[in-house]
Amino acid sequence: MEPSFIQSPTLGKAERYRAFLPQLAALLEGETDLIACLANTCAALREAFGFFWAGFYLVKNDELVLGPFQGSVACYRIKKGRGVCGTAWAERRTLVVPDVDQFPGHIACSSLSRSEIVVPMIVGNEVKGVLDIDSDCLNAFDETDREALEKIVTLLMQTLYQK
Ligand code: SME
Repeated sequence: MEPSFIQSPTLGKAERYRAFLPQLAALLEGETDLIACLANTCAALREAFGFFWAGFYLVKNDELVLGPFQGSVACYRIKKGRGVCGTAWAERRTLVVPDVDQFPGHIACSSLSRSEIVVPMIVGNEVKGVLDIDSDCLNAFDETDREALEKIVTLLMQTLYQK
């Protein structure tokens, strides 16, 4: 197994996501270990899109705890309702933050991070964690990212919890 997630630089963002989803599905096929699947998913996301930081926080004992990620070191624990991640968890919805300095309570793991998107990982009524992606550019994420990353999280949750 050695699929390359590197994509043609001529493709637009929506096309890249369209190409990425079946590649990711093939990568996850047959594996149900949580850490293994999350680790390869953020590695694939980073390879395909060159994200500044891409990773997961997992709900443990009513806190978010740092999970598999790609990028520089990050804070270990985030309380419910705190920062972008804790707010996406509490509100059970994707948050697109065009300028992190304008988000009250944003937790700066890296001073280089300028914008962010956080997608909650929901199974039934339970939030299992969040997918967090940071950019070092302002306004890096939009509806295309929201839609595609929600599909990616849905695929992950089906792979891990509904088979
Ligand atoms: N900025 C996040 C914290 C996690 S790091 O970006 C990796 C937040 O405000 O929740």
